[in-house]
Amino acid sequence: MNLLTISELDKEQITTLLERAALLKERHKSGIPYHPLRGKTLALVFSKASTRTRVSFETAMFHLGGNAIFISHRDSQVGRGEPIKDTARVMSRYVDAVVIRTFGHEIIEEYASYSDVPVINGLTDMHHPCQVLADLLTIKENRGTLKGLKIAWIGDGNNMANSWVEAAVKCGFDLTLASPPGYELDEAIISRARADADGEILQTSSVAKAAEGADVLNTDVWASMGQEEEQRERIKSFKDYQINNKTVALANKNVMVMHCLPAHRGEEITEDVLEGSRSVVFDQAENRLHIQKAILEWLMLPHDA
Ligand code: CP
Ligand code: NVA
Repeated sequence: MNLLTISELDKEQITTLLERAALLKERHKSGIPYHPLRGKTLALVFSKASTRTRVSFETAMFHLGGNAIFISHRDSQVGRGEPIKDTARVMSRYVDAVVIRTFGHEIIEEYASYSDVPVINGLTDMHHPCQVLADLLTIKENRGTLKGLKIAWIGDGNNMANSWVEAAVKCGFDLTLASPPGYELDEAIISRARADADGEILQTSSVAKAAEGADVLNTDVWASMGQEEEQRERIKSFKDYQINNKTVALANKNVMVMHCLPAHRGEEITEDVLEGSRSVVFDQAENRLHIQKAILEWLMLPHDA
C-alpha cells in the first residue's frame, strides 16, 4: 500500500485519516505517550528542498517511537544517477516505509513499482497529497465539515491545485480555481473530476469569481520548485493573482486564508493577509505532523482494510 495521490484514497479512508489525526493530535497535546512504531524506520529520499515535510515526518516518527533517515540527492547516490529501481529495492531491504520528494510524478510511480515497502508522496511536480490532507484537517477543525464549503484556489494550476481538485471529488466541497491564461490545470483533469464530483469544480481566469463568497482562500507560489528559470516571466503573468485585502473583502466574513508555505510575501499573498487574523497558515504547517502520524500508522501497522 502506498500514498501517492489523493485520488487513490476513498471517501471513508480520508474521513478515517482525518479523524485519527485529530485524535493523535489531542493525545499528543495531552502528553500521552504512544509508540506503536518502535523498531521501525522511515527513509526520506528527497531530490528537492524541504523544511516542513522533512521535519514533520522525522518528528512524527520520533513521536511514534520509530526512527527516520533523511537522504538528500546532494549527498547520496540518488543525485549521481543510481537507477530508481535499484534505490527502491535497496531501501526495501533496510527500512519499513519511504517518503519520496521528487520532480516528475512518473519517478515516484516507478519507485513504488519496485518497492516492497509503502511509498508516501512528499511532493512531486503533479501532486502534494500530505499537504492537502493536512489542509483538510485544518478546515475541519475550523468549520466542522468540508461538505458544501466554497473553496477558492488563486494562482498556479500546479501540484497543490491538482491535489485540491482530487480532494474536491472525494470530499464534496465546491472548488473554483482562478489561474492566469496558460497556467491553468489541464482541462482534461477538470472534466474528469467534474464527472465524479458531488460539488462544483470550476476553472476561471477571474479572481473575483473564485473569491466571492468563499469560505477558504488558498494560494501557493507563482513558480514552484523546478520552475526557477520561469520566475521573472511568471511574475508578469501572475501579478493580478494575489490574495490581498481586496480579495479577502470579496470572501465570506469568516474566510480562512490558506497557504502551504513557503510563501513569497508581496507576490501570491500580501504580508498583512498572511499575518492577519484570517490566516491559518501555521495551523496548516502544524497539522502536517498530525496527519502524517495517521498516515504512517495506517501504512506501517497491520490493519484489516
Ligand atoms: N509545504 C511544504 O511541503 O513545505 P516544505 O517544502 O518546506 O516541505
Ligand atoms: N507548489 C510548490 C509547493 C511547495 C510546498 C512547489 O512545488 O514548489
